[in-house]
Amino acid sequence: MAPPMLLSMILLLLTPVLAQARLSTRDTEPSDLTSYKQAIYLPFTKKFNSAYTPTVRGSINGKAFTFPVDTGSTGLMIGEPLLPDVDLSGDNTDQYEKGWEFLTSSSLLYNGYFVPLNITFFGTTRSRRAVSQVPVLVVQSVIKCPTYNSTTGQGVCPEGGSVKSTASPRHVTYMGVGFGRNIAGSGLNFGSPDHNPFLNIIKINGRRTFSFRTGYSVSTKGVHLGLTARNTRNAAWVELEEGATDDARDWAMADMAMKVNGGDSYAGKVLVDTGIPQMFIQPPPCITLPTVRILNPAPSSVTKYTTRVKNGTQLDFAFPDFENGVAGYDFDVGDESFPSQPSYVQPVSGRPGTYFNSGRNFLVGFTIIFDAIGGRFGLICLKCTDDDGYYE
Ligand SMILES: *[C@@H]1O[C@H](CO)[C@@H](O)[C@H](O)[C@H]1NC(C)=O
Ligand SMILES: *[C@@H]1O[C@H](CO)[C@@H](O)[C@H](O)[C@H]1NC(C)=O
Ligand SMILES: *[C@@H]1O[C@H](CO)[C@@H](O)[C@H](O)[C@H]1NC(C)=O
Repeated sequence: MAPPMLLSMILLLLTPVLAQARLSTRDTEPSDLTSYKQAIYLPFTKKFNSAYTPTVRGSINGKAFTFPVDTGSTGLMIGEPLLPDVDLSGDNTDQYEKGWEFLTSSSLLYNGYFVPLNITFFGTTRSRRAVSQVPVLVVQSVIKCPTYNSTTGQGVCPEGGSVKSTASPRHVTYMGVGFGRNIAGSGLNFGSPDHNPFLNIIKINGRRTFSFRTGYSVSTKGVHLGLTARNTRNAAWVELEEGATDDARDWAMADMAMKVNGGDSYAGKVLVDTGIPQMFIQPPPCITLPTVRILNPAPSSVTKYTTRVKNGTQLDFAFPDFENGVAGYDFDVGDESFPSQPSYVQPVSGRPGTYFNSGRNFLVGFTIIFDAIGGRFGLICLKCTDDDGYYE
């Protein structure tokens, strides 16, 4: 089937073009990052796999850890048994702040104390290291609580709400590095920039940070900490709105617009979430996505049936919208030849406003960048289509 692949990932021109327009790369503005020299590359421990959250290596107090890099949450959680140097016995806890985190994807509720720790991230050689200083949620209890209300919960599972699970603090090592997540109902009450391990780097390769642009990029290969002209080359930038706190590094999720089957455009917020393989869409109340009801494939799921956006549905996305698009992509749900095809697309509800979660396969098509100083989200297209519509 040689004819032009219309279902292509595209970069939109400045002029309003339809999704199926041929691909064009837009010249990026001259880089303002030339004065920043300090950066470090953290390779992922394994080849990118759609089924798993990518991980990087590092250590805390000399003990080795493999840290997931989840852009869909914010904050580092480590089980108390994994940190023998941290003493949370008796009155020792008085000096620490109590904290919790709820991960909606797994319905797991983590409780513990925030302990300031230094986290070392490993680069490509022994001498390449980055040190981050953040309050780490040292987890003392983890329970599965499907009835937890992320808006009002305050870390407490409702009476009788917890269900049996194998979760235990002994297995907890979870790292969220996302931005714009510390909003009402996210379950990430402490997910502000001061808790984000990638935004609190104090040392690079043994030297204190002095020429360091706080921010990072994530590709399918690894992470660059610290933005430079070089590691942001060819990025198309989307301006971000201010975040929920006064922290100058706090920015809201990026803006994106969507069309379904070539219909009207709807604006919403987007989360490029390396923590999940699927895509979630919460459409505006005025539209209904074409869906099918299927037997819930999730093991031990609460509901027998679940819904999916129908295969063949054409989805079309633009950053930040179709009028001023700097990047975008469109595809038919289920088309396995599409590089950034999510494992499935599910409609969701209950969040404030229209919302999209691209899932981690987005990274196959685009490397993403968060500029915490400039308040920008960057996209470097990796699989853009050529004039004939083929992926490069
Ligand atoms: C973290 O590292 C800094 C700089 O080396 C040091 O001053 C501080 O005491 C360390 N903090 C902890 C909790 O180890
Ligand atoms: C959580 O509580 C808020 C405030 O009472 C309520 O509006 C919301 O519907 C609740 N969410 C769920 C999922 O029960
Ligand atoms: C959609 O298509 C994919 C790929 O062909 C297939 O694996 C999946 O089961 C289909 N999903 C539904 C809900 O029909």
